[in-house]
Amino acid sequence: MQISGSIAVVTGAAKGIGAALVSALKEKGAAHVAAFDLSDAVHSVGADSSYICDVTDAAALCAAIEAVEAKAGPIGLFCSNAGLLGPLVFDNAAGATALEWQRAWDVNVMAHVHAANVLVPLMRARGGGHFLQTASAAGLLSQIGNAAYSTTKHAAIGFAENLAISHRDEGIRVSVLCPQGVDTDMIRGAEGHPAALDGVLSAQEVAEAALAGVEAERFLILPHPKVAEYLRAKVADYDRWIGGMAKLQRAYRPATPEES
Ligand SMILES: NC(=O)c1ccc[n+]([C@@H]2O[C@H](COP(=O)([O-])OP(=O)(O)OC[C@H]3O[C@@H](n4cnc5c(N)ncnc54)[C@H](O)[C@@H]3O)[C@@H](O)[C@H]2O)c1
Repeated sequence: MQISGSIAVVTGAAKGIGAALVSALKEKGAAHVAAFDLSDAVHSVGADSSYICDVTDAAALCAAIEAVEAKAGPIGLFCSNAGLLGPLVFDNAAGATALEWQRAWDVNVMAHVHAANVLVPLMRARGGGHFLQTASAAGLLSQIGNAAYSTTKHAAIGFAENLAISHRDEGIRVSVLCPQGVDTDMIRGAEGHPAALDGVLSAQEVAEAALAGVEAERFLILPHPKVAEYLRAKVADYDRWIGGMAKLQRAYRPATPEES
C-alpha cells in the first residue's frame, strides 16, 4: 500500500515501537496518524490525534476507531502494536497466574481480533485496507522462560494468517511484524534477557523495516534476518530445534537453591 496520503492508526503508541511507528508514518507522508494507548503520554508523541484507549476493551476500541474516521476519514492502515511481555517463569512453563495468562491473551491476541472485527466490514466496503500486527519472533520460535508470551504471540500469528487468507480477495492485506530484541522499556534493563541474544535493534529501525514491509505488501516482516534462518531450521528438524532451545533455556534458567 502507499503510505503517503493515507490515514493510519497506531496502538501502543505512547512509547517504544508504537511511538517510532507514529514518527515513521509522519516521515513517509501519512495524511493523518492517530495514536491509541492506555497512557496519557500518547498525547505527546506527535500524532495528529491521540486517544486514551485500552485495546482489550472492544467497545472502547470501536469508539476510538469511529472517532478517527469521523475526524480524519477512512483508515487505510491499522497498526495493531500494543503488547505485553509479562514475567519470566522458569520453574513451570504453565506457572504464570491465571490473571497473567488472561492479560497476555487479551492484549496480545484479542486486541487484534477486536480491531479487525470493526475494520474488516469498513475496509471491504471500500475495496481494501492494510493491517500491520506486531507479533514477535517469539510467535514463530519461542520465548525462553515465558510460555504465556510465546503462546499468545503464536496465536497472534495464527490470527494474522487467517485474516490475510480470508480477506485477500477483498483487497485487505495483512503484515505481521516479528522482531527479536528491540531497545524499548519492554526489555530495557534486562541486557541478559533471552530476547536480546542476537542483538537489539532500535525502535526506529524496526518501525522503518515495518513500513517498508507494508509498502511492499509483505506478510512476514523480519527486522532481524537471523529469525528466517531459525525458522527454516525449526521446520527442517523440529526435534533438533527443541533440543537446541532447551540448551538455551539451561543457559538462562536461574540457579535453584541446591545448585547455588
Ligand atoms: N521490545 C522488544 O524486544 C519486542 C520484541 C518483539 C516484539 N515486541 C512487541 O512489540 C510491541 C510493542 O512493544 P514495545 O517494545 O514498544 O513495548 P513498550 O512496553 O515500550 O510499549 C508498549 C506500549 O503499549 C501500551 N499498551 C499496553 N497494553 C495496552 C492496552 N491494553 N491498550 C493500549 N495500550 C497498551 C503501553 O502503555 C505502552 O505504551 C508489543 O506487541 C511487543 O510484544 C517487542
